[in-house]
Amino acid sequence: MAGGAFVDNGVGAKDYPGRLTLYVFLSCVVAATGGLIFGYDIGISGGVTSMDSFLKKFFPSVYEKEQANKDTNQYCKFDSQLLTTFTSSLYLAALISSFFAATVTRVFGRKWSMFGGGITFLLGAALNGFAENVLMLIFGRILLGIGVGFANQSVPVYLSEMAPARLRGMLNIGFQLMITIGILAANLINYGTSKIKGGWGWRVSLALAAVPAGIITLGSLFLPDTPNSLIDRGHDEAARKMLTRIRGTDEIDEEYNDLVAASNDSKLVEHPWANILRPKYRAQLTMAIMIPFFQQLTGINVIMFYAPVLFKTIGFGSDAALISAVITGLVNVFATLVSVFTVDKFGRRKLFLQGGSQMLVCQIIVGTLIAIKLGTSGEGTFGKTYAGFLVAFICLYVAGFAWSWGPLGWLVPSEIFPLEIRSAGQSINVSVNMLFTFIIAQAFLAMLCHFKFGLFYFFGGWVFIMTTFIAFFLPETKNVPIEEMILVWKAHWFWGRYIADSDIHVGKNYEMANGKAKNVDV
Ligand code: BGC
Repeated sequence: MAGGAFVDNGVGAKDYPGRLTLYVFLSCVVAATGGLIFGYDIGISGGVTSMDSFLKKFFPSVYEKEQANKDTNQYCKFDSQLLTTFTSSLYLAALISSFFAATVTRVFGRKWSMFGGGITFLLGAALNGFAENVLMLIFGRILLGIGVGFANQSVPVYLSEMAPARLRGMLNIGFQLMITIGILAANLINYGTSKIKGGWGWRVSLALAAVPAGIITLGSLFLPDTPNSLIDRGHDEAARKMLTRIRGTDEIDEEYNDLVAASNDSKLVEHPWANILRPKYRAQLTMAIMIPFFQQLTGINVIMFYAPVLFKTIGFGSDAALISAVITGLVNVFATLVSVFTVDKFGRRKLFLQGGSQMLVCQIIVGTLIAIKLGTSGEGTFGKTYAGFLVAFICLYVAGFAWSWGPLGWLVPSEIFPLEIRSAGQSINVSVNMLFTFIIAQAFLAMLCHFKFGLFYFFGGWVFIMTTFIAFFLPETKNVPIEEMILVWKAHWFWGRYIADSDIHVGKNYEMANGKAKNVDV
């Protein structure tokens, strides 16, 4: 496929010549497997913490309380802080480690962060699988968290740098696709191991985390470095060769020059952390904080972590609850594919706006369906057809997330930062994401108990706010080369004011692009 003047994004930024080479495609597939470890963990802990043998061994008091609890109020049945602390401790570790990962990613290159993430996750899996006491369990989870922090910091950036601009969305979403596959695999494994007699099923579930960890650890060793990172670390010749190889053409001068310009800007920056606070990065900093915050405030992890509990709450039997979790997991994987094939064609904004509206409608319907049956007392049951409708709307909600906030929550932050603050910006993205994952995981059961069906309206309210935010403040980034992204911000009605003409050093003919950017209304 010849590249060149493929799409003019209205801001003077065009994709460079070149095609999607097999080399880039395979590199992206391997790097994306970094998403498996995150996904596996999201899916595995909810199921394990509901296994009696696991509770008896590590959290006997929780087990006894659950057995003794004959409360008929469905909303408050499963409220246990100790258990949620176990689940969410991982996210705190990931939050902190992503800051260290920023330095590794910038100074040593993206692949070594992935490798580091894989190895630590592997150790965590071993410790958890062989756990004899709570200390081993918690220590193992901290190691898993460090692994997730490193992988989520480096993989999205790697994918966005390797991909040709016009296919960046598709290749980057490979990461989210692997997350959803990890979640589904974990759900299925839990379903199987929960049936193991003898009480050691949980060990299998936890130890199998070593499989995805092994894949990314080994895989990362074979990955080439991105040209952006090579230039930034002073390996100009290697970067040129790599660019020729990954783009499958000798016509790389334009892209190479942009990388050099980006790297020159980057070298002027001594402290990426202080630098990111400067007014000219206001747009990117705002997105690095708001996008992950909003992603978690969609309420998706209520479904991902607690689907079996939630389905039990609304009256499903144990098996039916686990099967429903598998159904939402399947919907999550297949709906993600929709974004893989549309994100570079329709753009990020359309998916955000459509997905957001769909989630909002579904949340209102689900809240109302539950309100009608359980009211505020939390007492009552659902008939088969009624429950079927409920699961259907939950699935539609998951689908809306899976082609909007899910993948775009990782794609957009990874493609909007200029090189000099990319690693720092991505760490902010990861840590805000982990912080709110932690808060929601920690608070959900108590929230369900107090807000009751209103919990769905609460998240619905947030979805309304975030969809409006996107409509006004996020410019379209599809097809724009990553090192020319500043042209998009410059052209934006609101953010443009923070960027001076003299801040722009990239573009085919940046003076022209610069002049054009001033007049263009996106
Ligand atoms: C989010 C996770 C979520 C997952 C669901 C990811 O993009 O970061 O918090 O559990 O999507 O598929």
